[in-house]
Amino acid sequence: MHDSDCTLPIGVFDSGIGGLTVLKALTEALPRESFVYLGDTARLPYGTKSAKSVTRYALQTTSLLRERGIKLLVVACNTATAVSLEALQEAYPGLPVIGVIRPGAEAACRQSAGGRIGVIATESTVNGGSYEREILRIRPDAKVFSRPCPLFVPLAEEGWCDGEIAELTARRYLGSMVEETGIDTLVLGCTHFPVLAEAIGKVVGPGVTLVDSARTTAEFVQDMLERRDICSTTTDRRLTFLATDGAERFARVGGYFMHHALSPSDVEIVDL
Ligand code: DGL
Repeated sequence: MHDSDCTLPIGVFDSGIGGLTVLKALTEALPRESFVYLGDTARLPYGTKSAKSVTRYALQTTSLLRERGIKLLVVACNTATAVSLEALQEAYPGLPVIGVIRPGAEAACRQSAGGRIGVIATESTVNGGSYEREILRIRPDAKVFSRPCPLFVPLAEEGWCDGEIAELTARRYLGSMVEETGIDTLVLGCTHFPVLAEAIGKVVGPGVTLVDSARTTAEFVQDMLERRDICSTTTDRRLTFLATDGAERFARVGGYFMHHALSPSDVEIVDL
């Protein structure tokens, strides 16, 4: 297998189905590319685990995707990007690896008028400080305010994306944030959060622009494919879904994330 084979799929992984928000943007932006998506649903959440464990998981998922044959890897998980991107790039020097934090930070800096930027993410992403570092690297005058919102992850995995419980949770985490910080932009710094955007938007109000990394990540991927000259030209692309547990749940909730129905038979269960 040659990593540079243009017809190979792009590998995408997350701790669960949250990364499907990134896959969706990738499939829209790159209609000729095939994708193999792996959700490590058996070990979700990553966001409350140690950097050592998440890095071990990320290396295992990458190894499996690599064995299947991929030409580029997208780490569609902020937590894994924050703690494992460098380890992955070191372990697979021939494989282009793109994370979601730099694209998310770029999108936020582009969108924010006043440079007061909020970041909501898992505990591990917030504690690692990588969004703050990336935002300040791009826009040194910015003020960054970060908050962990870990309960959004199981809500999204359950498909409880709108309604009373989603809104109450958003209110509990973010009810006072805008008043206390004066943010004009809020980064949804976890790939599970975009499906909760409506509930989050209701709490922070129309004066705050919600930003996620999905579309900008797709731009980074397109740029990398062009620079390496590994764009696919097929008109017959394939989407493959892998998970480490729960094909039925993956299909049920994943269909909501992808905006098209998935069947459990579309999801192959793999063992890492
Ligand atoms: N979707 C992941 C992220 O972007 C992680 C959620 C979790 O497993 O805690 O951070």
